[in-house]
Amino acid sequence: MSHTFSRRSAMRLLGGAVAVAAAATGTGAVAPAHAAGEGRPEAGAGRRVESLIAELTLDEKISLLHGATDPDSLGQAGYVPGVPRLSIPPLRLADGPAGVRVTEHATALPAPVLLASAFDPDLARRFGQVIGREGRALGQDVLLSPMVNLIRTPYGGRNFETFGEDPLLAGDLVAAEIRGIQGEGLIATVKHFAMNNQEKDRMSVDVRVDEQTMHEVELRGFEAAVDAGTGAVMGAYNKVNGTFACENRDLLTDILRTRWGFGGWVMTDWFAAHSTAAALAAGLDMEMPDGTWFGTALKNAVRDGSVPERHVDRAVRRVLAMMDRFGLLDGTAPPRPARDAGAGAAVALEVAKAGATLLRNEHDALPLTGAAARSIAVVGPTGTLPFVSGGGSAHVVPDRVESPLDAIRSRAGRGARVTYALGEDLYGKPIPQGALGRGINTEAQGVAAGKTWTYEGSLTVADADEWTFVIHYSGERPRVLLDGQDLFPVLPGVGEYFQGGLISAAPDGLSVRRKALTLAKGAHRVEITAKGGDHGQLFRLRRSTGVTRAQDVAEAVRAARAAHSVVLFAYEDATEGQDRTTIALPGHQVRLIEAVAAANPRTTVVLNTSSSTSMPWLARTAAVLQMYYPGQEGAAATAAVLFGDCDPGGRLTQSFPVDDAHHPVAGDPLRYPGGDGVEEYSERIQVGHRWYDAEDVRPLFPFGHGLSYTSFAYEGLRVREDRRGLAVSFTVHNSGRRDGIEVAQVYVGRSPDLRLDQAVRVLGGYRRLALRAGERRRVTVTVTGRTLSSWDAERHAWVLGTGRRTVWVGSSSRDLRLRTTAEVTS
Ligand code: BGC
Repeated sequence: MSHTFSRRSAMRLLGGAVAVAAAATGTGAVAPAHAAGEGRPEAGAGRRVESLIAELTLDEKISLLHGATDPDSLGQAGYVPGVPRLSIPPLRLADGPAGVRVTEHATALPAPVLLASAFDPDLARRFGQVIGREGRALGQDVLLSPMVNLIRTPYGGRNFETFGEDPLLAGDLVAAEIRGIQGEGLIATVKHFAMNNQEKDRMSVDVRVDEQTMHEVELRGFEAAVDAGTGAVMGAYNKVNGTFACENRDLLTDILRTRWGFGGWVMTDWFAAHSTAAALAAGLDMEMPDGTWFGTALKNAVRDGSVPERHVDRAVRRVLAMMDRFGLLDGTAPPRPARDAGAGAAVALEVAKAGATLLRNEHDALPLTGAAARSIAVVGPTGTLPFVSGGGSAHVVPDRVESPLDAIRSRAGRGARVTYALGEDLYGKPIPQGALGRGINTEAQGVAAGKTWTYEGSLTVADADEWTFVIHYSGERPRVLLDGQDLFPVLPGVGEYFQGGLISAAPDGLSVRRKALTLAKGAHRVEITAKGGDHGQLFRLRRSTGVTRAQDVAEAVRAARAAHSVVLFAYEDATEGQDRTTIALPGHQVRLIEAVAAANPRTTVVLNTSSSTSMPWLARTAAVLQMYYPGQEGAAATAAVLFGDCDPGGRLTQSFPVDDAHHPVAGDPLRYPGGDGVEEYSERIQVGHRWYDAEDVRPLFPFGHGLSYTSFAYEGLRVREDRRGLAVSFTVHNSGRRDGIEVAQVYVGRSPDLRLDQAVRVLGGYRRLALRAGERRRVTVTVTGRTLSSWDAERHAWVLGTGRRTVWVGSSSRDLRLRTTAEVTS
């Protein structure tokens, strides 16, 4: 069967190449945006803005182009003072991707990677609405989100803040979320433009990437954000092809403004500016969070003539035009609403359930029903320590937290027996009396304000063992030397902020650091110095050892044996500023899972991890549920999925590799983390699932994978010509006995006519479907002209991939149920 696709009318000729209209980027149906969220304002900046520019002094103009200290800070990341004499209000800029990050409580939404797993642009819009409303309610004007960089490496420390590895899906979701945010009157900032795919050396690494790859992979989401009317763009820390992103003319002017028509303003990432005249000329408008380059230096440069004042005016115009569009200059912005914590919590819960991704479910181990629901052992430190969000600028002060154990107990009900075993101790146990000399209270050593406390003594170890020293402290980090080795050094340039996420704080709020090492039998010299600082100091010195760990595992095994089923919570703690070094679960969790699953094969592992994980233990478990960082309602959502109150609605938006040796950046240090400060995008367009197909490597779980509690059959695939591209129609049948969710996915193969790099197949579109037991639904998914096109670097344009192309429909990139071909013509 073949079909002809003709799009001549929707195309324009650019430099001899066929370019597909930029609007044709998405597949998801998104509701119309609020007027404030749409449009490209620069052209119509208007008289108000021009007359303000005419009245502003140079100092005032410059004050609008860089951050400053907020005299009335609400704990947000950035502040730009206004010009009161001209009624230009200040701007407050807050993170972030999973909720508004200020000192106050806010709705802690699930991490974006979990939102993305729902494959549901409308849900992304409502997620954005919650943040938009709360941002305004909490005194903010600009949101530093969404992040649309793609997952390129499984090690990326911010993978949880992304929408995954696929450009089409990320583009749809970012556009929908921006419409949601801006529809509430908060200005969105899409970040980090561009190629910020790793945290390792993020401040300096030079990403070498070719033009085709940039346009087809990473830039697609940014372009979708511009089409959706994003008010601001944040430049990335890294360099792109030799030039820092924040002073990269190709990115900031040629692509962003000339090609895409962006009319908002570009700000730096925090401390990502590197120059004055060059950056301003290249298209940067605002330095954050201070004025190192765009403060006095800019004023001097204008004075001495090295920066033309019209460049300053241009940047000011872009900022003011956007403020004007949001009604901030003439007082027409809607009044700040009150927070609606209830509505926020409802969306947080809905998203966590919708994105819950069931990776494995042998013999219908889930949902827990009957005996399995009445006798449960909950195991793992994160069973009682809820992983609400990742660390760094994505962290939100949640309205509430509930532990998974409590949620499981309350869902299981009175008649059920739910026990708990720690399994792995993250905070260490007290060092036994006698092992350390007298004069130190390792459980609560207090140091008065302004005092320095020191201890010198010896630690006696009865048998050689693997020790993990753990310090808990308030204030300045105490110095602990063991046989002269500094166990917890404060590294230059690495702030406390980027030292781990959730488990870097004890349940009572003290900071926590860990150091593992092998200790020989005998006496070891210990020296500790702690400074009281202004507020005094409290610290605890604890440890776990091979012996204590074995006791913890043995207790978990006993609990597992005594219960009918086990729910084991496994974690991985991610934060911006650092990458992972392995995709294996951290700590001693692998051993714990293996021991517990051996004791009770009805073990479900719930993963609160940032990204993909290897699972050498997979075959021994009954079920694996991926929840990432599920937000403040995550425990309730997890319990709802485990007990079958809802279908697990999520599908993977990233391929899970089998191990550290089989993924797109494995074994090539130039690709990742880069050599001599250069990161080579040598896999080119084969990012994510495309790489697994191109290299014929089997992932542990493919892109798009995720199980339902029911089953689905596909039938009746037809492809026909459509105004926007290929209209792919098929029927999905819920062939099981329960209502459930399916995410039907359309993939498209190569064009025989293009002599450009192409993927074996690209995601062409998708549809999330809620089907009752037995229900059949006919759906049509449009594959847009843009998706059928490749970027021709010689012509600097999109070229339609004509000819006979294969179209597949299925429930993951490797579970392709139906196949046909379609003829694409220009
Ligand atoms: C992060 C940004 C964030 C900013 C402000 C930076 O370190 O990279 O994503 O918006 O800090 O908190």
